[in-house]
Amino acid sequence: MDNETKAAIEPFIDLSLITQALYPVKAGKEATVWACNAHPDTGTDLLAVKVYKHLRERSFRNDAVYQENRTQMYHNTRVRRAYENGSEFGLEVHFMLWVGQEWEALNRLYDAGVYVPKPIKQVGAAILMEFFGHEGGPCPTLQQAKVPQSRAPDLWKLLKANIEMMLQANTVHGDLSPYNLLVDLDEPSDPLRIIDVPQAVDARFNPNARQLLDRDASTCYRYFERLGVRDNPKAFAQGIWNRWKRAEL
Ligand SMILES: Nc1ncnc2c1ncn2[C@@H]1O[C@H](COP(=O)(O)OP(=O)(O)O)[C@@H](O)[C@H]1O
Ligand SMILES: [Mg+2]
Repeated sequence: MDNETKAAIEPFIDLSLITQALYPVKAGKEATVWACNAHPDTGTDLLAVKVYKHLRERSFRNDAVYQENRTQMYHNTRVRRAYENGSEFGLEVHFMLWVGQEWEALNRLYDAGVYVPKPIKQVGAAILMEFFGHEGGPCPTLQQAKVPQSRAPDLWKLLKANIEMMLQANTVHGDLSPYNLLVDLDEPSDPLRIIDVPQAVDARFNPNARQLLDRDASTCYRYFERLGVRDNPKAFAQGIWNRWKRAEL
């Protein structure tokens, strides 16, 4: 474990939330997720820490689409200008904003009943959350999982229900795909987690939300279509969008 990761994880040990980091679940482009032993007081065995890589090592995910109408909320003009002009300080602002957005979205979605990992705590560039897995290891992404055809219709239905719940919470995931869904095929009553939400957009303010919703639904549907599910993801997106709009008026 490098020093930056160690420094990112230590606060959770000091706060008696975890006792130690066990192994990296996955080192991604933007973040590394670690499986950790939970502190006994938490009432659970394992927790996951997502540690964001620092700026110089990462590129922000095609950021403009997601940030539209978001930075206006930053009334401090010095912060806003720094953010917009890409200075060193601006990059730092950008970085912390991105981590904060994931923390905020995770909480909003969890509170709305969406099947995201339960958020526990954010400190700096790290987010502590429910570990979706077992002693033997993390649950696979939908991309990696061997989903039998017989399970596909129910999983797709559950995913659609979650996409709708997100929208009811005014949120479109924006990067939903089989890579950002974790599945537990041994747990039929609780088989799904939606992860990786820093880019989630507010459907009320982001003009790209409708299109992102469409893309999320279509990208996921392609996976299920290969497993024999027949549906119309565009009609689904349109339907929930219309319902959400009406409720909003
Ligand atoms: N709460 C969790 N429990 C178990 N594994 C997780 C959890 N969150 C993330 N992972 C694993 O870590 C990987 C990377 O997490 P993700 O949030 O998608 O970050 P990124 O794609 O930005 O690197 C996921 O593909 C998944 O395998
Ligand atoms: Mg991901």
